[in-house]
Amino acid sequence: MEISLIKTKAYDDQKPGTSGLRKKVKRFMEQNYLENFVQSLFNSLEDLPGKTLVLGGDGRYYNDKAIQTILKMAAANNIGKIILAKDGVLSTPAASNLIRKYKTFGGIILSASHNPAGINEDFGIKYNIYNGAPAPSSITDKIFEISKTITEYKIIKTADIDISTIGTTKIGDMEIEIIDGVKDYATMLEGIFDFSAIKNLFAGDFTICFDAMHAVTGPYAKYILEYMLGAKSGSVINAIPKEDFNNGHPDPNLTYAKELVDIMYSDNAPDFGAASDGDGDRNMILGKGFFVTPSDSLAIITDNHKLIPYYAGGISGVARSMPTSAACDVVAKELGINCYEVPTGWKYFGNLMDADMVAICGEESFGTGGNHVREKDGLWAVLCWLNILAITKKSVKDITEKHWQKYGRNYYTRYDYEGLNSDIAKDLFNNLKDTFGSYNGKMMDGFIIDFADEFTYTDPIDNSVTRNGLRIIFTDGSRIIYRLSGTGSSGVTLRVYIEKYEKDGSKVTSQPAIALSNLIELSDIIAEISERTGRTKPDVIT
Ligand code: G1P
Ligand code: ZN
Repeated sequence: MEISLIKTKAYDDQKPGTSGLRKKVKRFMEQNYLENFVQSLFNSLEDLPGKTLVLGGDGRYYNDKAIQTILKMAAANNIGKIILAKDGVLSTPAASNLIRKYKTFGGIILSASHNPAGINEDFGIKYNIYNGAPAPSSITDKIFEISKTITEYKIIKTADIDISTIGTTKIGDMEIEIIDGVKDYATMLEGIFDFSAIKNLFAGDFTICFDAMHAVTGPYAKYILEYMLGAKSGSVINAIPKEDFNNGHPDPNLTYAKELVDIMYSDNAPDFGAASDGDGDRNMILGKGFFVTPSDSLAIITDNHKLIPYYAGGISGVARSMPTSAACDVVAKELGINCYEVPTGWKYFGNLMDADMVAICGEESFGTGGNHVREKDGLWAVLCWLNILAITKKSVKDITEKHWQKYGRNYYTRYDYEGLNSDIAKDLFNNLKDTFGSYNGKMMDGFIIDFADEFTYTDPIDNSVTRNGLRIIFTDGSRIIYRLSGTGSSGVTLRVYIEKYEKDGSKVTSQPAIALSNLIELSDIIAEISERTGRTKPDVIT
């Protein structure tokens, strides 16, 4: 088949962020926008000809079109083989699993995660390397450099191929193996968890509601929870993926997963509730009328890891992103295992996992995962909880409250100020950075500031240095952290993370809002948020 060389004009905004290149779909639909990025990606990868890549996406609007373009460009760029999920639909953790299982060179994931989908919403493309982890900055920087000067791309002009049938097909010399995107992932999870204990749990009167939020996890959750584990039919709601996610915002938190939250706080709530996001890597865990913060979930899974067959022999350590509460640190200390604090973004866990320094990782932003893949994994987290519940026979609330009584409680909240004017947000941030030094040792509202700094992380494996977030650490371990989001597709989002540690187990069931109220007020005063932005309250509180 003939390879066409198409002349193109470079764009200047194709810098991949921590989760790949994310833009409005309409930007991606501009002439050669996707093609430029894909060619830049291929050009950035040495030794790519002849190699195998995994390809799939979260099924959002434009997924199907982008898949066809990428297939035709991959064939023109002499890629040996593509392992493609049927219909091009593949969750992010399932993609990571395929890369690892079939030892491919890497994989391309089309997703804008939890962000809304549809013609006026978001799209994204991300490259993961051979170990299943998102590409490191050395690769993404290279892609960006190439994208700024690209003048042509290669494609084979051929009719769209049928990607709805499992089997093997070809474009030119490139083989395309179309596989079931669910099976390998389900088999992988079956090898990690105590499926027979969970089956017994469902065989009793234990009930569950899993909200797939009209996004990618529907078929996965139906197959694993209902078909393999025997949860009653209908336990998975909003299970049919739609290309616009039913006009929703598939972010599993208390604000956006409202339907599930209402069910779990109703009179006849099931025993367990969970949700996952657009591409299946995030999770939210709920009990009857009870919410488990992601930071606590990480700590509880870590504390109970020996109940999970895959971790029965013990784990080397746990890691969390810097803004995630220090609840897991307390557990790690008690268990005598490693505990690492890394910058925000799942990619920072990869090296630690590869070096077997940690086995379980988490972020406050509803991301939890293990070393079975190199992405966070929503259904994995759900199965961790089901496994723990099946063995302990306790409720979600019971397990969490007992955890607080034993280890103390890290009260925690996150305030998001979305769509800020970029200059205002940057000024606010820079001003804070400039005035930081003056806070050391200062007493404010009864809290003494131990130190204030810009979080700086040196990766212990590759020695790369990352600065991400301004921290104010108080002498009692309380923290206020400020970050500018790196994943938004328009405007700037300021995130403020507030944490207070209550060590005394007998005091831990009081209201978080009360425990945190002084710090919340301080966070505004110190950064001059309302003064500079005119916002009197955040858009989202987690
Ligand atoms: C957000 C979360 C971060 C997560 C990322 C990708 O990034 O805060 O923890 O890794 O999405 O899911 P942010 O927008 O804060 O840069
Ligand atoms: Zn996601």
